[in-house]
Amino acid sequence: MTNFATDAGMALSAPRRAGPLLAIASGKGGVGKTTLAIAMAHAFSRRGQRTLLVDADLGMANVDVQLGVSAVSDLASVVAGDLSLAEAVNSAGEDSFDLIAGPSGSAALAGLDLENVNRLAAGVTAASMAYDRTLIDLAAGAERSTIRLAAATDDVIVVLNDEPTSLTDAYAFVKTLRMRDEGASPFVVVNNAPDHASAQAAYAGFAKTCESFLGFRPPLAGIVRRDPHVPQAIRAQVMLEKRYPACDAASDIGKLVRLWSMAFRSSRLAGPWGARDDRTSTRGRNTGVRMAGNDAWSLLWAGFTFFDLSFILMAGIVAALAMRRWGQLTAAALIAYAVDVLLRFTLEFMSAGDMPANFAMDLAFARMDMHALSAMLRPFLYFGTIAILFGIKKRYGG
Ligand SMILES: Nc1ncnc2c1ncn2[C@@H]1O[C@H](COP(=O)(O)OP(=O)(O)OP(=O)(O)O)[C@@H](O)[C@H]1O
Ligand SMILES: [Mg+2]
Repeated sequence: MTNFATDAGMALSAPRRAGPLLAIASGKGGVGKTTLAIAMAHAFSRRGQRTLLVDADLGMANVDVQLGVSAVSDLASVVAGDLSLAEAVNSAGEDSFDLIAGPSGSAALAGLDLENVNRLAAGVTAASMAYDRTLIDLAAGAERSTIRLAAATDDVIVVLNDEPTSLTDAYAFVKTLRMRDEGASPFVVVNNAPDHASAQAAYAGFAKTCESFLGFRPPLAGIVRRDPHVPQAIRAQVMLEKRYPACDAASDIGKLVRLWSMAFRSSRLAGPWGARDDRTSTRGRNTGVRMAGNDAWSLLWAGFTFFDLSFILMAGIVAALAMRRWGQLTAAALIAYAVDVLLRFTLEFMSAGDMPANFAMDLAFARMDMHALSAMLRPFLYFGTIAILFGIKKRYGG
């Protein structure tokens, strides 16, 4: 443990870190974290940045396997106190990045207690001081140790694909991360995308849900296309960009890294991409507290589109025609309102594509929540509309 403690001490006494720490996470396993982490580390190092990749998948480490390097030391010896993190660094190949391999053997460090995870996080922070960039390949899911490591970094990329379970699991990860660290604003990478449109749709659904329930919209950092060269490179245990430099996935990841270097920097630092500003404004929009034009009227009108008003009129006409006496007015208004709500949910389901049903349901509720004022007003609007129309019918229709 002594080396661990030294690493942690280094972190605490360090005036500042040399380069930012970036964690690659996901909700569901097998979505491409390791592939992305390796390719990004490679791309960063090719841009002349001293890069360290830490395989912190404590249960199923496999960066070294994908890379085809035999790591002489790994995290397990660090945790055991045999090596300091700095001593556990391997080279991922000539002119390439450095690697701290994960614990070999299945589930080697899966049950690491929180105190050791904290030390590990501090140790990684200390080791990152010698680098321009440090990437951490995390385990899938939202286990405490994973969340703790993610919370210790400057930025987190959540990898997802267009499968519904990948979206819901990624949402669970983001939610847990933000419970642990309110300031966290992870970025999204959609991997394994069959085409741009489906990747955009997957991201849009995910971002919308985060916005509705967590009060912030995770920015899209990039889309990586599905590419048969990826599994081929893994099978050959050669880095993607080395083996197939011009393939779709390699060029997408190259673009992502260029953009990342230019624009995203650290989301925790203030700046145009600053997560904190983003979060405050988005949260304001959801609660209506800090929204521009935040008066009762604009809130009210936000809940009544042309479609809404037309629907209320149509339902009112049907109800008025069906009514026989004034005593049926309240019941007619309530029935019209119930049909309105049902239709709303049905439309939400239909527009949700292959989003899981519970997700679509959550979204529909969130919408109603956002337009609470207009939702409350709606039964009265039905009451009034039907009353007027029934009055007209009585008077002129007999
Ligand atoms: N863009 C892509 N195109 C085609 N196949 C891909 C792509 N990205 C990843 N894959 C494939 O998906 C599989 C899983 O990738 P990877 O091991 O990187 O996922 P992971 O998220 O790290 O998994 P785990 O959660 O088990 O650590 C690999 O076999 C890889 O070939
Ligand atoms: Mg992996």
